Amino acid sequence: MRVAVLGGGPAGLYFAISMKLRDPAHEITVLERNRPDDTFGWGVVLSDETLDNLAANDPVSAERIREHFAYWDDIAVVHKGTRTVSTGHGFCGIGRMRLLLLLQERARELGVRLEFQAEVDDPRRFMTDYDMVLAADGLNSKTRAAFAEIFKPDIDIRRNKFVWLGTHQKFDDAFTFIFEKTEHGWVWAHAYQFDPDTATFIVECSQATWDAFGFGEMTKEESIATCEAIFRDHLGGHRLMSNANHIRGSAWLNFPRVLCERWSHENLALMGDAAATAHFSIGSGTKLAVESAIALADFLHSEPTLREAFDKYEDARRTEVLKLQSAARNSMEWFEEVERYLDLDPVQFNYSLLTRSQRISHENLRLRDPAWLGSAEAWFQTQAGATANAARAPMFAPFRLRGLELKNRVVVSPMAQYKAVDGTPTDWHFVHYCERAKGGAGLLYIEMTCVSPEGRITPGCTGFYKPEHEAAWKRIVDFVHTETEAKICAQIGHSGPKGSTRVGWEEDNAPLPDGNWPVMAASDVPWSPRNQVPKPMDRSDMDMVRDQFVAAAEMAERCGFDMLELHYAHGYLVSSFISPLTNRRTDEYGGSLENRMRYPLEIFHAVRAVWPEEKPISVRISANDWAGDDGVTPAEAVEIARMLQGAGVDICDVSAGQTSLLARPVYGRMFQTPFSDRIRNETGMKTMAVGNIYEPDHVNSILMAGRADLVCLARPHLADPYWTLHAAAKLGDRGVTWPNPYLPGRDQLYRLAERQEQMTGKV
Ligand SMILES: Cc1cc2nc3c(=O)[nH]c(=O)nc-3n(C[C@H](O)[C@H](O)[C@H](O)COP(=O)(O)OP(=O)(O)OC[C@H]3O[C@@H](n4cnc5c(N)ncnc54)[C@H](O)[C@@H]3O)c2cc1C
Ligand SMILES: Cc1cc2nc3c(=O)[nH]c(=O)nc-3n(C[C@H](O)[C@H](O)[C@H](O)COP(=O)(O)O)c2cc1C
Repeated sequence: MRVAVLGGGPAGLYFAISMKLRDPAHEITVLERNRPDDTFGWGVVLSDETLDNLAANDPVSAERIREHFAYWDDIAVVHKGTRTVSTGHGFCGIGRMRLLLLLQERARELGVRLEFQAEVDDPRRFMTDYDMVLAADGLNSKTRAAFAEIFKPDIDIRRNKFVWLGTHQKFDDAFTFIFEKTEHGWVWAHAYQFDPDTATFIVECSQATWDAFGFGEMTKEESIATCEAIFRDHLGGHRLMSNANHIRGSAWLNFPRVLCERWSHENLALMGDAAATAHFSIGSGTKLAVESAIALADFLHSEPTLREAFDKYEDARRTEVLKLQSAARNSMEWFEEVERYLDLDPVQFNYSLLTRSQRISHENLRLRDPAWLGSAEAWFQTQAGATANAARAPMFAPFRLRGLELKNRVVVSPMAQYKAVDGTPTDWHFVHYCERAKGGAGLLYIEMTCVSPEGRITPGCTGFYKPEHEAAWKRIVDFVHTETEAKICAQIGHSGPKGSTRVGWEEDNAPLPDGNWPVMAASDVPWSPRNQVPKPMDRSDMDMVRDQFVAAAEMAERCGFDMLELHYAHGYLVSSFISPLTNRRTDEYGGSLENRMRYPLEIFHAVRAVWPEEKPISVRISANDWAGDDGVTPAEAVEIARMLQGAGVDICDVSAGQTSLLARPVYGRMFQTPFSDRIRNETGMKTMAVGNIYEPDHVNSILMAGRADLVCLARPHLADPYWTLHAAAKLGDRGVTWPNPYLPGRDQLYRLAERQEQMTGKV
């Protein structure tokens, strides 16, 4: 086969090598615009796993690469004058130039034709002259642009500025991140050794800081001198160097995140940065390039036609690339938001940095560096006020809010049971809640309990408006307090426009077949065309509902609840005031956020006035309407939280969505946690995270990274009332309290878990 390879970077060269290895009869020409040793950048990192893949494909080049590798195991983070080192991370670095020279040499040996200073302007010519064309022409691929309507590239220019520099200062003991506070804002460096006397030194900062420094008006030399001044204390008198001589301007870049809908067209395939980029902070661009090269070379030899080979290549590589891109996006966004975390304690900041891509979990960190994780856990327990046994996972740290003391950070999230009769909890509720209170969570919520019969969502919802309700709830609360260590929180709310609907397992949010009651809301915006058009509330409605909230809170207090939550989320009555999608009012309760928050805050103040001083109140919000700028955005949620915090709300329970059918949520593991993270770290308000959190590892990493103070799990507690006790057994934590009659069950479970651990260890 006659193959033209456009671009002689890692993707192009390694593809040429891989093709020749599979069939020396192929005629392969690599066209590269630069000279052989004229390359941008300094070092690149590869993992041991990638090296093994290279060795399996071509032991010769892998060995040569290995000979030139700098290895390091540690990551050092320099922040607030503290250098924190953790180990077990296993990286290796090589100079990009060295890598390319080795690959060029290997390609030549195998008979690949290398043409340098060969600029390719139009890929079409090669498509007719050759059997196959590989476009590996990098980030700014002209080929991708030439066939933009086929490949449909999506290019997102990210907001941070960075410049790829080098230095002779040694960073040979650790991959080092340095954060420096300057008069213009934070600037940080990613530094790693790649040969005996050179290290990569990538400098990054926000656009605002970059503008304030005036980097845009500086020459490259002035930029470098400024960076040298910023990092003087870390450079040991060494200079910073740029080798991007062929790049015009200052050499500062914004990272472009590239995705393409397709990677092939006729006899041409895209590869490497031309097809997809992964942010440099997880160092995977070269890995993607060379692993894709191996895959395509394989398929071109296993499949009968080019088309089938290309289809297989796209299928096989796309998932891998998306996985890495997702980790890279998390990491990139972490650096974009890093100023939010820079005030964290250095221990927590370091943890947050290490887990930023969400590829490294809490237990994974324990495997890498048990000593460091142990000290981080001890720090967490100490700052949480734990007195005994500091070596426990963060989920088992105590938490204090006003006079409320929780044994641990796990919360049974509120979940409507739809089993009440006229608002009265039944035996179902008694068994359901008491069982979960025995399950070890520090805090147990009851479902949204409604302040009036019209405020119910369904006829099966519980209430706080009749004496029978009080007696039934009190029986549950008394059991919880007498028999368990859990605390119990009453969530109170009013259904508003989503009221008078069928129970969840019949048809969520569908109007009742008969017996509907009138509903009201901020404005006459129905939940769906099938639902009633709610009555826009007038002032007397607002007074009435506010007073109902107060009466419900008073009842909750008489029942003995330890904490109260106001349900201001999910499209119910108060939520209908907060979201601009449902609030169309033109009076002082509509329009600006200040106006939309006026009534919600009024209710809070009225409730706070009757709720005992020593007991906390939380508010659940939908931190994202998932409807773009038309609805509440995560940024606006920060302002909402600030207003709640200013009013005296003790903790924000950060949920999202369910406010409008226009929502286009993006689901995933822990998908709402970023909103809690943002609120907590931008306002300093305490938060709870919720949403698709189901592993002990998730809970521990959220807490340890300072993304929330408490973690709510809903569905996992439907599947397993004893989720916390089981998590403790899994983690080998013996500090949790089991009910006395269940102790033999506990002992067996721990024995079995230990045996399992030993067996897994042996395998
Ligand atoms: C700051 C920074 C740090 C990075 N750090 C790492 C890291 O640590 N680890 C890692 O794995 N990756 C890293 N990368 C990414 C890595 O450099 C790329 O992902 C990788 O080089 C992609 O390989 P490629 O062959 O697809 O593209 P490139 O390496 O960009 O190669 C493309 C080649 O095509 C040539 N070319 C382009 N257009 C034409 C044309 N029209 N005609 C002829 N030739 C052309 C270019 O000159 C170039 O040689 C980093 C990137 C940046 C920006
Ligand atoms: C059956 C069910 C009922 C729910 N009822 C309520 C409720 O009464 N109040 C509330 O704020 N959230 C309610 N939710 C939402 C949960 O509290 C939680 O926010 C959501 O399920 C996401 O958490 P998860 O992924 O752990 O399930 C309910 C969820 C479920 C599954």
